[in-house]
Amino acid sequence: MDKPFVYVTRRLPEEQLSSLKELADIEMWEKEDEPCPRDVLLEKAKTADGLLTMLSDRIDAELLQRAPRLQAVANLAVGFDNIDVEAAKKQGVICCNTPDVLTESTADLTFALLLAAARRIIEASDWIKQGNWTGWGPLLLAGADVHHKTIGIVGMGSIGRAVARRAKGFGMNILYHNRSRNPEAEIELGAAYTSFDELLGQADFVVCLTPLTEETKHLFNRSAFQKMKQSAVFINVSRGQVVDEQDLYHALVENEIAGAGLDVFAEEPISKEHPLAKLPQVTALPHIGSASRETREAMMRLCAENIALVLSGKPAKTEI
Ligand code: DGY
Repeated sequence: MDKPFVYVTRRLPEEQLSSLKELADIEMWEKEDEPCPRDVLLEKAKTADGLLTMLSDRIDAELLQRAPRLQAVANLAVGFDNIDVEAAKKQGVICCNTPDVLTESTADLTFALLLAAARRIIEASDWIKQGNWTGWGPLLLAGADVHHKTIGIVGMGSIGRAVARRAKGFGMNILYHNRSRNPEAEIELGAAYTSFDELLGQADFVVCLTPLTEETKHLFNRSAFQKMKQSAVFINVSRGQVVDEQDLYHALVENEIAGAGLDVFAEEPISKEHPLAKLPQVTALPHIGSASRETREAMMRLCAENIALVLSGKPAKTEI
């Protein structure tokens, strides 16, 4: 009997897919840093029993309809706004993501971005490399303190809690807003639940970690930025579309808020001509929230295991 066929939409290190190798014939898109073209993905989906996908692949009704054999989609991300999970469920396709394995690495990056934006770390490093350092100055590249300030976390899931633990170590006052209250964060970390508006009004650092859904699309818009302190720094490590980027740009150039640290953008990748990338008060990163070598490899292994489990008729480890 033919082995099941699994298509992987980026070139990944083969050793990370070992749990799947015996069981399935694996084919990968040849490039590591370029997405698999839509027409190739649609073609491969026709005969695929499993798909190992990236957040840049759209797994929608059109694709699912053309994939009669498909049993499992494992997305190399905790976010899954690129997948029509309802349509997949109707067709009996199991969808999986990669929670937990990336929690601490993503929290590290979130806090690093917050520190970098507050203390102008990237700007300062670029400034030296451009040959600008001629002497020490009392207010040279002076940024804002982080310790003992107020952090407002929007989206208190496991990454939110991991960010709050780091904030606690910096002596920060922790506010959060979430669909439901999180007793663990309140008891262990002393985080205080507030309304969205209260959080915006009080936080020195507003950190967006909420998933992209119909409800959260453009949650951070003109009216939200206007409620923030003029000295506030906005950090986004969730999804770009949670923010109205034009409104964010406006808030920054009109000095309604002081700065932003952005790991994600509405349309990725962005070029250096993107209006937000041109602002000195924006620290921009290329969606590297979970990108440590160890974590990305753990995510790959989890995706491979999930597909192997589903193809063997067993429950996936992390079904969405
Ligand atoms: C995720 O896992 O959703 C992240 O955005 C990937 O870095």
